[in-house]
Amino acid sequence: PASPGGTGIRVPDPSSLTAVVNKRRGLAADYVPPGLTTPANIPGATQVRQELIEPLERMRADMAAAGITLRMSSAYRSYARQQTIYNGFVAREGVAGADTHSARPGNSEHQTGLAVDLDDGTGCNLSACFGNAPGGRWLAENSWKYGFILRYGDGWQPIVGYSYEPWHFRYVGVEVATDMHNRGVRTLEEYFGLPAAPDYG
Ligand code: DAL
Ligand code: ZN
Repeated sequence: PASPGGTGIRVPDPSSLTAVVNKRRGLAADYVPPGLTTPANIPGATQVRQELIEPLERMRADMAAAGITLRMSSAYRSYARQQTIYNGFVAREGVAGADTHSARPGNSEHQTGLAVDLDDGTGCNLSACFGNAPGGRWLAENSWKYGFILRYGDGWQPIVGYSYEPWHFRYVGVEVATDMHNRGVRTLEEYFGLPAAPDYG
């Protein structure tokens, strides 16, 4: 690509609710999603695409009714913010280590404003144990009803490129999330017939 940005092919439709961003599909460095808004009632929340506000609020309320507090650890991240985060991991773990769990700038789904890192306040924030925490279990079972999919499931690294992140959910809309659920398709790469993205190629 002529302008700076992520590795791989440039995502043609970055503002689409079904845009696929991974290690083989990147965003321009200056891409900022439209309509960034901060949810009102979710502790820790930062900006997300406006389309997520209402489903997040319904999910928060339904989780509260089940005795679970929905918290948010991260949402929209700019290219520059992702660069800072990624570089921090590289300094500590090296490139190979960082690449297992942190996207390079321009290749993070968080730059779309459609990805959220969720927590329930029970001590497993951004940890694999969130998969067995009340909130992690609830989300894995129910998030599709609100248009969210688990993006980095356990053992999906060969397709999605990252180790297990039971806290990272991606909004794709109820129609696509329901269809994926009903058909048992786990990843966006498989659902849209895109190449696997285990690495930067
Ligand atoms: N942790 C996810 C893969 C990201 O950095 O976007
Ligand atoms: Zn995330």
